[in-house]
Amino acid sequence: MSDAYEDEDLAAYYDVINHQRADTDFYLELVLAADAVLDVGCGTGVLLKEARAAGHSGRLVGLDPAEGMLVQARRGDGVDWVRGDLGTVAFDGEFDLVVMTGHVFQVFLTDDEVRAQFAAVRRALKAGGRFAFETRNPAVKAWERWMPEYGTDIVGPEGERVRVEHFVESVENGLVRMSETYSSPDWPEPRVDRGTLRFMEVRELDALLGETGFEVAERYGLWDRSALTDTSREIITIARPGPHPAARRR
Ligand SMILES: C[S@@+](CC[C@H](N)C(=O)[O-])C[C@H]1O[C@@H](n2cnc3c(N)ncnc32)[C@H](O)[C@@H]1O
Repeated sequence: MSDAYEDEDLAAYYDVINHQRADTDFYLELVLAADAVLDVGCGTGVLLKEARAAGHSGRLVGLDPAEGMLVQARRGDGVDWVRGDLGTVAFDGEFDLVVMTGHVFQVFLTDDEVRAQFAAVRRALKAGGRFAFETRNPAVKAWERWMPEYGTDIVGPEGERVRVEHFVESVENGLVRMSETYSSPDWPEPRVDRGTLRFMEVRELDALLGETGFEVAERYGLWDRSALTDTSREIITIARPGPHPAARRR
C-alpha cells in the first residue's frame, strides 16, 4: 500500500495497527550486533529507534520514499532519515547490515525490480556484511485472511475510532492486488488505498539472490528462528555477498 504511507494522517496509524510485532527481537539482535546499519523501507523507523534506545552507538540510516512515514520517523533522534529508495540514493560499501523489514520486499513486483534492489544492497554492504529480510510464504496464502471481516478497530492519536479493512481484488501469478480502507464515524467518507504485493517461491528468491551475487547464510520460517517448512508463514533470509557473479563466470 503506497498512498497511505505518503499520507501523514494515515501513516500515523501504522504503529498503532502494528503495535504487537513478532519480528522486533529478531531484527533488533542483528542491528545491535552490527556497527553501521541501513534500513531500506524504514517506514516509521520503529526498528532503528529501538536500536538507538537500546544503546546502539554506530551509524543508523533509515531510507523510505514515503514522506508520511518519515514524518513519524523523524520524531526519533539519532538516526539519519533519508527520503528515497535504492534507485535514487546510492550507498557504496558503507554498511555491515542492510535490513528490509515489514515485508517491504514484496513491493518489488518484477524480477528486474528485485535484481536492481539486490544489486544496490550488495553495493551498499561492506565486505563481510549481511542482508536480512523476509517475504511471506506463498504456500500459506496470507491473503485469504485479508478480508473485511478480519478488519482491525483502532483508536488514532487524536482519540478517533478508525476501522481498517482489506479487500483482495485479484490473485494472479503471485501478484496480490488489494485495497485497504480506513473508515471512521468522525469522517465524511472512507479513505481507500490500493496496492499490489508479490508472493515469491523460495526457489525463485534464491535464484535472484544468486544472480546478484548473494549466498543464503541463514534461512528461517518464523521469528523464533525455526526452520522453513511448507507451512511456515515467513521466508526469512540472512544473505551474505558471495563471489561476484561476473567472477564466477570466468
Ligand atoms: C509495510 S511498511 C514497512 C515499514 C517498516 N520497514 C516496518 O517494518 O515497519 C512498507 C514500507 O515500504 C516503503 N516502500 C515502498 N516502496 C519502497 C521502495 N521502492 N523502496 C523502499 N521502501 C519502499 C513504504 O513507504 C513503507 O514505509
